[in-house]
Amino acid sequence: MGRPGEFLESIHSMPRVHILPAETDLLADPDENLLKLLRRHQVPIRYSCKSGECGSCKCVLESGQVKLKKYDPKALPDAQRDSGIILACRAILSEDITIRLTDSDDLIAHPERKLLCRVVALEPLTQDIFALRLHIEFADMEGIPFTFSAGQYVQIVVEVDGQEIARDFSMASTPVDAEYDDLLEFHIRRTPTGALSSLLGGVIRPGAQLLVRGPMGTSYFRPRHQGPLYAVGGGTGLAPMLSVAQTALDNGKLEPVVLFAGFRNQADVYGLEQMEQMRRSYRNFSYHLALDEAQPGDPPQAVHRPLAAHLLEQVADFAGSKVYLAGPPGMVEAISASLLERGLPEKDLHADAFYPPVTAELAPAA
Ligand code: FES
Repeated sequence: MGRPGEFLESIHSMPRVHILPAETDLLADPDENLLKLLRRHQVPIRYSCKSGECGSCKCVLESGQVKLKKYDPKALPDAQRDSGIILACRAILSEDITIRLTDSDDLIAHPERKLLCRVVALEPLTQDIFALRLHIEFADMEGIPFTFSAGQYVQIVVEVDGQEIARDFSMASTPVDAEYDDLLEFHIRRTPTGALSSLLGGVIRPGAQLLVRGPMGTSYFRPRHQGPLYAVGGGTGLAPMLSVAQTALDNGKLEPVVLFAGFRNQADVYGLEQMEQMRRSYRNFSYHLALDEAQPGDPPQAVHRPLAAHLLEQVADFAGSKVYLAGPPGMVEAISASLLERGLPEKDLHADAFYPPVTAELAPAA
């Protein structure tokens, strides 16, 4: 057994994080990552990329110092950093600090869960995009249904030859499907070199078991917002946008809900039937289909111009709106920049870029 004072000494050497406005204190391990600490204690904080690229984990450093690891200056411009804003995912703790979480009214925290799921269907939506449907067979926290907010994602984990392969995918299905029917649906493009997607139809086939961890992500539907909702999805970024739009309509949203779907060409197009069904069912729903390339036989409703240009042309004024955005990083960053330039407040832009996998160091706390 150690000296009687050793325990107290070790506590004294742990950085203390005082959190406002909740007025709570957390003790961190020396050199612990701030986002990891907050996640470990289930403190609701927005985050997405976990690698200093998206800027969604910003919080205000009220006192004390943190060491900030490398980040993209677009995620935290110098002016913001100089005014005391930090990125929680890049902040390393070595001394007592006080932070203020922003946007706390808007935060929804679903506990991160571990689910054992069975593949119940794998259906082609295009020549290389598949709908993967999973049934939740077992969940930790027994008796508590799995919950998430529309627009969030999970990590799907497969073990191959003793090696764990984990990738993030957004739910295309709604939270109601998960909570009441234990069902999750994902839209995944199969690429020959995709560590997980190349297993579709092989290891990942109907009957196979998969591990799922989550939910994660901050680009989720805000049910209290009143005003037009624009859901913008490029490629398989359509998946979470279908979930957001459907959930908004199911929740009885009365203001316009407009979905913008963008694809390279007609071979990539999917989801038309679902969007048509939504249009027939809800008078306040409409959708746009933008294709980069024009080809004979394109769907009659398609316009031929980049998704960003079409969105900005169609919506003259984003005042009072919320925009949800998902897809490849280049597209998400370009549209985000244009929307902010047009005056859309940052708090009304909820964007999740599909970044490449991040290192284990910044993986969500277990
Ligand atoms: S910058 Fe921290 S989560 Fe993206």
